[in-house]
Amino acid sequence: MKLEEYVVFTNKKTDAQQLDPTNIPNHVAIIMDGNGRWAKKRLMPRIAGHKAGMENVKTITKTASRMGVKVLTLYAFSTENWKRPNDEVNFLMQLPVDFFDTFMPELIAENVRVKVMGNIQELPEKTQKAANNAMADTADNTGMILNFALNYGSRDEIQQAVKQIAKDAVNGTIEVDAIGDALISDYLMTGFLGEYADPELLIRTSGEERISNFLLWQIAYSELVFVDEFWPDFTPAVFERSIGAYQKRNRRFGGLK
Ligand code: FPP
Repeated sequence: MKLEEYVVFTNKKTDAQQLDPTNIPNHVAIIMDGNGRWAKKRLMPRIAGHKAGMENVKTITKTASRMGVKVLTLYAFSTENWKRPNDEVNFLMQLPVDFFDTFMPELIAENVRVKVMGNIQELPEKTQKAANNAMADTADNTGMILNFALNYGSRDEIQQAVKQIAKDAVNGTIEVDAIGDALISDYLMTGFLGEYADPELLIRTSGEERISNFLLWQIAYSELVFVDEFWPDFTPAVFERSIGAYQKRNRRFGGLK
């Protein structure tokens, strides 16, 4: 059973055993917030926070995969993040390069498949290359999908989908009457995830309680969990606590139970 492997990994038998192994969310999405404040608290530059954040992506990827999560979507760079100072943007654009350079063997050992969604073509060449290589190198892996939202914004995603739907309606590929929930889901950037496109659980770290243009369509019925820890402090134990909070929720989808 997947969860047993996970217990061995964390060495936190009691915490993990309190989770219901039959109720692990298939798709977990995370807004990884608070890198800057984590660094500031330590009198370090903001980029040191992003570096620590990147290291934590490795830890949480392994934790999620061993718990039995099927899709982990991480908000790594939003379409609004270009407004940050050049140095910080440049550093953030280098992170995927460093991440895949150092973590690829483990991703392969963990059988993790990497995907990147967002306007990849607007990223610097080196970042695009790192993303495309990571996707190609892990394309045959059959385990958890590690889905990075990179230069992603949900309103932008919805605009692109609406334009494509309109084009396909005009050129006769689709019938206007076929436009419904399922078709719209297919046209969004998460369409490739099929039945797992909508996260059951969305977590935001650092005490902020906002959605910030992330997966607006997909989180219609997601459980939202906000934790106070900054992203670099979001340990496997905090992740477990978040899943525990999810498991205590009574999901009704607008109906009665
Ligand atoms: C938000 O914290 C975080 C980001 C904008 C960047 C997130 C990126 C990572 C965690 C690393 C990604 C790793 C890979 C492999 C791509 P913030 O800087 O807004 O924090 P603050 O609110 O405290 O200033």
